[in-house]
Amino acid sequence: MSNKRTAFAVGAHPYHTAGVYYIQDPSAMAAGVLLDPQPGEWVLDLAAAPGGKATHLAARMENQGVLIANEVNRRRTSVLAMNLERLGVTHAMVFNETPERLAARWGGLFDAVLVDAPCSGEGTFCRDSAAVRDWSLATVQGNAHRQRGIMEQAAALVRPGGRLLYGTCTFAPEEDEGVIAAFLASRADFELAPLPALPGLSGGRPEWIGAPETLRGVGRFWPHTGPGHGHFYALLRRRGEPDDDLPERWTGAAIPGRVLQLYRRTLREVLAVEAPEAGLYLDGNDDIYVTPMDPKLWAGLHVLRPGWWIASQRHGKINPNHALAAALRPAEVQEVCDLAVDDPLVEQFFRGSFWEDAGPAGFVLVTVDGFPLGWAKRGEGRLRSRYPVHLRR
Ligand SMILES: C[S@@+](CC[C@H](N)C(=O)[O-])C[C@H]1O[C@@H](n2cnc3c(N)ncnc32)[C@H](O)[C@@H]1O
Repeated sequence: MSNKRTAFAVGAHPYHTAGVYYIQDPSAMAAGVLLDPQPGEWVLDLAAAPGGKATHLAARMENQGVLIANEVNRRRTSVLAMNLERLGVTHAMVFNETPERLAARWGGLFDAVLVDAPCSGEGTFCRDSAAVRDWSLATVQGNAHRQRGIMEQAAALVRPGGRLLYGTCTFAPEEDEGVIAAFLASRADFELAPLPALPGLSGGRPEWIGAPETLRGVGRFWPHTGPGHGHFYALLRRRGEPDDDLPERWTGAAIPGRVLQLYRRTLREVLAVEAPEAGLYLDGNDDIYVTPMDPKLWAGLHVLRPGWWIASQRHGKINPNHALAAALRPAEVQEVCDLAVDDPLVEQFFRGSFWEDAGPAGFVLVTVDGFPLGWAKRGEGRLRSRYPVHLRR
């Protein structure tokens, strides 16, 4: 399959833009299966950009519960937010924080935590020449040290009875088995949990670094025997019973009454269903979100998306946001323009252009074969694309 942006490249196909799929290595996708997040749980992806695993976790949670997608590298948070929006995720928040600051605020809050650790990348050498170029023994040791620090913070974030999944895409046992052996030696309140039998998943290699035999219970995917690239996973369970007083998903409202009235009135014209109200939050930029977490719990943290971005207030008007469109079904809106995948208007939509179209004035959900692409606005016999400028082709 071509990687180039041709009509046939999977990453440039309109279905990809519509969030029908995410392109991901099968070994990487095992993370979602092993952590097995449930609808309604509180889940944290501590190193989430660009969002392959976070979008998979979100899909398995069926947009129920709380998903925190965190990325320490600010530059990488935008693509993370874009991917979650493209896939129509409605229960996630995107943070740009260090593991230390999150652990200090949210100790014991999460049912499941994923650490997809920065690593020496040996399992991806076949496709990543930079990983080959940057490899050295010192890189491996540096990554192992960094991963131990991240795991120490991650442990604090898991509630008693909760799960912590550590993953890398490297073979180096100084990272993998070495990091988990050190973790277990320092955290008696965690134990290795058995992994399900997945095609191509084999056990750990403690003998490579003189680690305890229990480390056979971790999982390795090998590129020559498994479904994809090389990967390593260890599933850890925190001993104990969950506290009863964990916070619920937030259903309050932090939006002035005047803006709420305008929001209701505008969305009634656009949607064929009730506009969301539980968890509404107006931020300092006049953007309106549905946030799953009480704002008191994240005040002062660096947040890029405090939830599902529904609308923005501009010049006394409410404009529905692209992220709202991306999560809607045709039956949930008043007006739909459905295009066939090979219709040239699809490309016109992506360019931000317009075309002749008669019908009532207002916002129209443009779909491709029923999958949402974004908003267009109808008026004076024309439908003008409102596809976000930063996404245009
Ligand atoms: C393997 S990538 C994550 C890939 C992502 N989970 C996905 O599936 O798309 C590792 C991430 O860890 C982040 N990272 C680097 N140093 C970190 C640190 N000290 N703490 C937390 N994350 C870090 C990197 O910026 C990078 O985005």
